[in-house]
Amino acid sequence: MNYSTIMTAVPSARLARTTPWRAFLQTCALAGTSLILASRLAAAEPAVASTPSDIWETFKTRRSVRNFKPDPVPEADLRRILDAARSAPTSGNQQPWKFLVVRDPAKIAALKEANVQRLLSQSDPQKTLSEEEKNKREIVIRSHLAGYFSAPVYIVILTDNHSDYPDYNHWDGPMAAGYLMLAARALGYGTVFITDGIPDAVTRKILNIPDRYTRVCITPLGVPVQWPQPPAKKPLEDFIAWETL
Ligand SMILES: Cc1cc2nc3c(=O)[nH]c(=O)nc-3n(C[C@H](O)[C@H](O)[C@H](O)COP(=O)(O)O)c2cc1C
Repeated sequence: MNYSTIMTAVPSARLARTTPWRAFLQTCALAGTSLILASRLAAAEPAVASTPSDIWETFKTRRSVRNFKPDPVPEADLRRILDAARSAPTSGNQQPWKFLVVRDPAKIAALKEANVQRLLSQSDPQKTLSEEEKNKREIVIRSHLAGYFSAPVYIVILTDNHSDYPDYNHWDGPMAAGYLMLAARALGYGTVFITDGIPDAVTRKILNIPDRYTRVCITPLGVPVQWPQPPAKKPLEDFIAWETL
């Protein structure tokens, strides 16, 4: 099951299956669902602390963030976060990662532009739309992508195919991503583990990532406009099997 399949569970993605807007709506479905959930819960829930008081609060309040303030992230904070990421366990201690940090606004703008053009052409595969209809779609696409591309920093988490045990990279990569996201949360920054939302091919082309590296994900990193309330989570008991399945 890939991420697109998972997203067919939400209503807007179901709609997406039947229209040429599929890829675009898949990208937006999660963000939209989170926004709706967040706005419903906002009235009932207290505001989330910007900096957690301990590790337990860090786990509990880490959220996928898709809307950021423009505030810059000091390099010292970035280094602290990346240092935490590299403390993750790896197979045979091989540490196969590369963290590509992108802060150049021109590169971030190019990433956004490539995504806009990708979604535009996917929304009109037969090229039958009028100029007016294309312009309307472009406005919608740009506004949906605005939050995704509002962060001051993007980190592409990569693994090196030339590592000691490349067959184990697919385990080692996400370990670092998890650590990175928690470390960012501990310092008050939001992240989101993006896969299909900003496809591998787009990051590879725009950021000139050599074939030698496999992308785990790309995450924006910055101060959230607002900490989202948690999406519905399954109860703990659903996951635990004491002694036997
Ligand atoms: C493997 C994986 C792929 C994901 N891909 C995307 C993505 O492409 N776009 C996106 O906005 N979020 C993506 N997410 C974030 C999830 O949507 C998010 O973690 C989930 O909805 C739960 O919300 P939470 O992180 O706030 O607990 C991905 C997360 C994981 C673990």
